[in-house]
Formats: sequence, C-alpha cells, structure tokens
Amino acid sequence: MKYLQAYRSSIGFLRHITSPAFHSGSFPALRTNPFVSAAQPRFTARTMATAMAKRLEGKTIVVTGASSGIGRSTAKEFARTAPKNLKLIVTARRLESLQQLAQEIKEEVGDGVQTLPVKLDVSNQEEVKNFVSSLPAEFQDIDVLVNNAGLVKGVAKAPEIAQEDIDTMFQTNVNGLIGMTQAVLPIFKKREDGGRGDIINIGSIAGREAYAGGSIYCATKAAVKFFTEALRKELIASRIRIIEVDPGQVETEFSVVRFYGDKAKADAVYSGCEPLTPDDIAEVVVFAAGRRENVVMADTLIFPSHQASPGQLHKKN
Ligand SMILES: NC(=O)c1ccc[n+]([C@@H]2O[C@H](COP(=O)([O-])OP(=O)(O)OC[C@H]3O[C@@H](n4cnc5c(N)ncnc54)[C@H](OP(=O)(O)O)[C@@H]3O)[C@@H](O)[C@H]2O)c1
Repeated sequence: MKYLQAYRSSIGFLRHITSPAFHSGSFPALRTNPFVSAAQPRFTARTMATAMAKRLEGKTIVVTGASSGIGRSTAKEFARTAPKNLKLIVTARRLESLQQLAQEIKEEVGDGVQTLPVKLDVSNQEEVKNFVSSLPAEFQDIDVLVNNAGLVKGVAKAPEIAQEDIDTMFQTNVNGLIGMTQAVLPIFKKREDGGRGDIINIGSIAGREAYAGGSIYCATKAAVKFFTEALRKELIASRIRIIEVDPGQVETEFSVVRFYGDKAKADAVYSGCEPLTPDDIAEVVVFAAGRRENVVMADTLIFPSHQASPGQLHKKN
C-alpha cells in the first residue's frame, strides 16, 4: 500500500521532472520520492550539456530576418541548443512577429535564454549604423552575427526588371549584410588574438549558379559569396570565423515574397517535390557556430535530395 501511494503520487509529479523549475530547486520534495529518484539518472543523462551547448553558453547572438523562415528557426535552434544561458537579439521589420517568437522561446526553454526583439530594416543604412549603440548595454557584447535577412522580388528578365525590385534586393541582400557586418566587426576586433566572433552569412545556390529570371537575386548572392570570401582573407590573423551557408530550395515565405503575395504561385514552386524546411538550415547554422574555436565551416551547400542545381529539380508530377 505504501508503495502504491508513492507510485500514485509519482505519476502526478512525473511531468514536473522535465521542467527547468524542478532542477532550479522549486520542487525539492520530489528529490526524496523513490520513484522520481529512480527516474533521475535517465533524466540527467538526457539533459547533460553537449560540447556544442557548452561552447555556445553565455554568448550573445544576433539573427537578422528572424520574423520568418530560416531566421526564425535559427533563433529557436540556438535557444534549444544552449537553453541555460544565452542572449538572443532577433531582428526584422515585423516587430509583432519577433515578439511572438520571443514568447515562444520563453515558453519552450524558460528564462535561461533572454530574447530581445529589435525592429530593424537592414536596407536602411542609418538604422544599421545605429543598431549596436541602440541596444541595452548587456546585449552589446555580440559574439555571433547571423546575416540572414534577404529576399527575392519577381522573375522578370532584363530589360523588364523593375528598378524598385533591383534596389530592394541589392539594398537588403548586399548593402544590408555588409552594413551589419561593419556594425558588428569592431566589437569582435577588440577581443584578444586579433579578434573573436562569428559572422554567418546566408548565401544561396543562386550565388553559385545563375538562372534565367533570377539575374538580380543571383547577382546579390554572388556578391555575398565574394564579400564573404574576401572578409575571411582579411581577417586571417584573427580568431574571427567567417562562415557561409548556402541553401538550395527551402519552403518559407521566400516564394510568397517573390510572387508579391501570390500564394498559389508560391505553392506551385514546391509541388511534386519535398523542399528543405527552415529547421534543416537552422541546424547547420547552429552546428557551425557550435564548433571548436579552431574549426571554421567556411562554406556549406545544402540541397534537398531532389535538387542538384537551381534548375535541376526532380518533380514527381
Ligand atoms: N527559401 C529559399 O529557398 C532560400 C534559398 C537560399 C537562400 N535563401 C536565403 O535565406 C534567407 C532567409 O530567407 P527565408 O527563405 O527564410 O525567407 P522568408 O521566410 O521570406 O524570411 C526572410 C526574412 O528576411 C526579413 N527581411 C526581408 N527584408 C528585410 C529588411 N529590409 N530588413 C530586415 N529584415 C528583412 C524578413 O522579415 P521582415 O519582412 O519582417 O522584415 C524575414 O524575416 C534569405 O537571405 C534568402 O535569400 C532562401
């Protein structure tokens, strides 16, 4: 009977043993429960920090374009990987979406991750220049910048490409990424050994192989590739890691933006094949940031299995 009662009370409490509150001491009585004690070694094994989590702990990470797609997933993946102690600065133009993301991260991992939503248009150089100084002091010592904000507009071919689309793509994908890099690098360069920190640029297969109807987008991503490569060479005497992650086809809001909000046209891009998810790319970004300091994942190209180039996609229908 005594054991039956203990068993019953344990059932009610078992769901609490996975909560961070239990381990922070809010449920001290549970530790004396025989069934909970029996379950504890398994729990401890599951939550032991990985080498990657230890390397990321205590860092301050900026993700641009975190209101959707790859950026949003990347912020969540960082939080999940190092949930005990992390500062995340999530930026984009849609503040509400960033606030929602911050709430979701808090609900999922607890208070170990402090998420700061910041409204930032990377195509506006004034905003970019003032970005670091406008942060609260405790968020200014940035360790990792994920330059993810980017977009494609239309499928027009020269000479019919709208000037507004050309300007938007270059100002966001190229000038925005360069501006953010220049804003954050002085923080990295103040550190010992010539500097420390990670710049992770989200490029694209489009920056490696051009396709008809994507000339401007491809040109912007080729610019990202060469800016990234030159930067790595310029910083060779430092510990600053310059990393590029180039996705193939990923299903996000990307195609909806390309087709000016036409969801049916966007859906047609992915019909008959299985694109990557934003989480697939987020895992690679966090893995790159979580390597030992002397390891640089300089350049990574990621395809879904049906893709071999921008135009070579196997469709089932
Ligand atoms: N999806 C793909 O197939 C694919 C393939 C290769 C590379 N990529 C690259 O991956 C990156 C992320 O794209 P995604 O696929 O995740 O698309 P997405 O879902 O449309 O996300 C794009 C993000 O960029 C932000 N953004 C756009 N313009 C901005 C600006 N001026 N200032 C600040 N933020 C801005 C958007 O936020 P707001 O609208 O709230 O500002 C949004 O959070 C881009 O650089 C894209 O080129 C995507």
